Order: sequence, then structure tokens, then C-alpha cells
Amino acid sequence: MIAIYPGSFDPITLGHLDIITRGTRLCDRVIVAVLRNPNKVPLFTVQQRMDQISHATRHLDNVEVDSFEGLTVTYAQMRGATALLRGLRAVSDFEMELQMAHTNKTLFDQIETIFLATSNEYSFLSSSVVKEVAKFGGPIDHLVPQHVALDIYKCYAKNHPA
Ligand code: PNS
Repeated sequence: MIAIYPGSFDPITLGHLDIITRGTRLCDRVIVAVLRNPNKVPLFTVQQRMDQISHATRHLDNVEVDSFEGLTVTYAQMRGATALLRGLRAVSDFEMELQMAHTNKTLFDQIETIFLATSNEYSFLSSSVVKEVAKFGGPIDHLVPQHVALDIYKCYAKNHPA
């Protein structure tokens, strides 16, 4: 089974990495797909995010990193995927995720959404939280892979030189 793990990944966190790692044990191939979203101003370009993910997953044989625009199900169909992988952190995620899963099913009946409960230690974690902490000079090494933490610090140092 080929699964797509779609998202913004701005940037990838240890919570995302946890879902990817566990996904690779369930699926033959996990394609981590970064959404090209013209409506958002990201911290990192799509290419930077793809590089960060590739580096973080380089030890996993059955992971591929790609980007897409438009509907996730169209991309999934094009890649021959039959599943979408998503993490569920808390009840607050549930409503939106369920809506997305149902919508995607109406668009492409052959697709199943697989929800993995986020591991306890990452249940509070999001890319936004990481950026917020880093912006105010807090530590983020326990929240993102080390190379990503360095990229974030560099980014904020460039934007707000001391
Ligand atoms: O990491 P995110 O931002 O929570 O990921 C959201 C994402 C990219 C999975 C979602 O916004 C998405 O699938 N966007 C592509 C457009 C689409 O297919 N929309 C229909 C589902 S409602």
C-alpha cells in the first residue's frame, strides 16, 4: 500500500517524524507531500521544507518526499496511492480531520484516511508552537530535528538580528 502523508510541514516537527516512522511500518511506501499553498506565507520555501524532511527521514528506506498543489486526492490518484496518513493529537483536531477525510472520500472513493494517534509526548506539538517559541528565543531542540532547529534559529536571527 502506498500512503500519502500530506501537510504544510513548515517546518517538520518530531511529531510529524513520529507519524512518518510509524506509517512506514504499516505501509509499503510513505510519500511525504508538501502542499504548495499560494494562500500562506511560510517561514520556509517548499524546497527548504522538502530538504528538511529528506534529511530527517534519510534512515527510512520506504519514504519519498515530494510537493504538490491542488487537491490531495488528485495527487494521491496520480501517485497510485490508496491511503492518506494523518496524525490526531487531540479532540480539537478531530472535527477538521473527520471533515477532510469525508470530503476526500466523496472526491475519490478509493482513498482511505488512516489516522494515527500522535504519541503522548508530542500531543501538544505543532509547527506554529515551534515557531512561536523560537521567535522569542526559547529552546526548540526537543521539538524538531536538530538540523531544523538550526535552520529556524538562522531564519529568525536573519530577520531579527540582535
Ligand atoms: O499540515 P496541514 O496544514 O494541517 O495540512 C493540511 C492539508 C495540506 C492536508 C490540507 O489542507 C489539504 O489536503 N489541502 C489540499 C487541498 C485539498 O485537498 N482540500 C480538500 C480536503 S478538505
